[in-house]
Amino acid sequence: FFTFLFFLALNAQSHIILGEASVHVTDGCARIHNEFITNQKTNFSYIDVKDCYESYPFDKAVASKTIDTLTDLIGGFYSFLDKAKELPQPGYDFRPMDLIAELNLFRNKSYATLYDFTIDIKHLFNDLKDAHTTFISNCFETFVFYTNMTFYSVVDDGKQKIKVFNDTIDRSNIDCEVTHIDGQQAFQIIYEYANKSVYWSRDLGVRFNIALDHAHAKKSFAIRYEIPEKPDITYTLKCDNTNEFNVIRNWNAFTISSILDKFNDSKSYFDNICNPIKESKQPVSFNPKHRKITKIIDNANGILAKQDQSVTTIRIVNQFVEFYKVKDFGVVKIITEQPNTLTTDETIAIFPKVIQGFKELANAGIKKVISNLV
Ligand SMILES: *[C@@H]1O[C@H](CO)[C@@H](O)[C@H](O)[C@H]1NC(C)=O
Ligand SMILES: *[C@@H]1O[C@H](CO)[C@@H](O)[C@H](O)[C@H]1NC(C)=O
Ligand SMILES: *[C@@H]1O[C@H](CO)[C@@H](O)[C@H](O)[C@H]1NC(C)=O
Ligand SMILES: *[C@@H]1O[C@H](CO)[C@@H](O)[C@H](O)[C@H]1NC(C)=O
Ligand SMILES: *[C@@H]1O[C@H](CO)[C@@H](O)[C@H](O)[C@H]1NC(C)=O
Ligand SMILES: *[C@@H]1O[C@H](CO)[C@@H](O)[C@H](O)[C@H]1NC(C)=O
Repeated sequence: FFTFLFFLALNAQSHIILGEASVHVTDGCARIHNEFITNQKTNFSYIDVKDCYESYPFDKAVASKTIDTLTDLIGGFYSFLDKAKELPQPGYDFRPMDLIAELNLFRNKSYATLYDFTIDIKHLFNDLKDAHTTFISNCFETFVFYTNMTFYSVVDDGKQKIKVFNDTIDRSNIDCEVTHIDGQQAFQIIYEYANKSVYWSRDLGVRFNIALDHAHAKKSFAIRYEIPEKPDITYTLKCDNTNEFNVIRNWNAFTISSILDKFNDSKSYFDNICNPIKESKQPVSFNPKHRKITKIIDNANGILAKQDQSVTTIRIVNQFVEFYKVKDFGVVKIITEQPNTLTTDETIAIFPKVIQGFKELANAGIKKVISNLV
């Protein structure tokens, strides 16, 4: 589910002065447009997207206006300002913060580009680890970086391992163990990513599961909206009893043609993607077409059931709650606490099915249940 307490768009158009150079080939947005027109491509190189995103210089006046807006909004409407200052309860992992004070620190910071500034603020909001509070700019949510490989985690020989869930480029990699990512322990890399970059829960264990989730594409280790640190990533794989080997993958940036239709260079990208308010009152990210980007990536719902023969499906209450049996315990996967595709009457009508699911778990001899709100 997506419920944003705040939706904040940078409205900075009038302050950006684009140099002459931006319309030539140095303009990543123009290169993207050319690829789209000449080769009908909807996937692009890392460097083209990076250059496009980074083509807008940092402007202190815009930054200052943004911080004013944020401190006003947060100060006036964020109910958890005091809660955010408290130390985590045992079992939770996040840093306590004085959000307003931290926002004010941005007044004296300087950046090379608007992208750097925006992402740094986004990271501050991510640190709250509050699933309902984020900072999004229309400008930098256009492309999804993906290496066509997804992952899962299992405990094998008493050790928690990372494995390849799917690889559409080389299917022989599926189910191989990923021992290292860029030369470091794969588990550690994903665990750190979960701690730092996933913000949907205050519980690090939940964040780790989310980092490996394919059903909610926006937040996993494999599928990124921010520009990854470098153009490629090296996975060290070990398949059955073979020796370890390296797979080097580029981060390709995917999008959809209805977005690519909107720009041909960085100026038009800014006018039509970053600051579309003058065109229609609706910010781009709320546009259902834009949401389709996440659907580009395989929607692998029901992973749990498909992946492992030892999992028995007890009952699926569509789009709401799923019940499984694994060995002697039950798994209750709660897709949402409020199925927004249903009317109130329909929601009331499916509760008996949910109760039935719990009864069926009990009838199957289940005494312990793991419940997971996904
Ligand atoms: C990118 O698009 C081209 C043309 O549509 C396609 O041939 C290629 O496989 C795509 N690359 C990836 C990594 O999907
Ligand atoms: C910003 O810098 C000015 C002078 O350099 C200083 O007076 C002010 O206290 C600083 N503000 C913050 C929030 O750090
Ligand atoms: C892996 O990806 C391919 C291509 O998108 C898809 O057909 C297949 O069902 C996926 N496998 C799993 C296990 O999701
Ligand atoms: C998670 O990140 C926080 C800081 O944001 C840090 O204090 C904590 O040590 C990290 N936890 C782990 C297990 O790395
Ligand atoms: C880009 O599109 C605008 C209209 O949106 C048009 O006026 C301009 O000529 C186009 N530029 C190029 C290089 O195609
Ligand atoms: C990579 O994944 C994208 C998104 O699912 C898909 O459209 C594309 O065909 C895949 N590319 C290859 C080469 O498998």
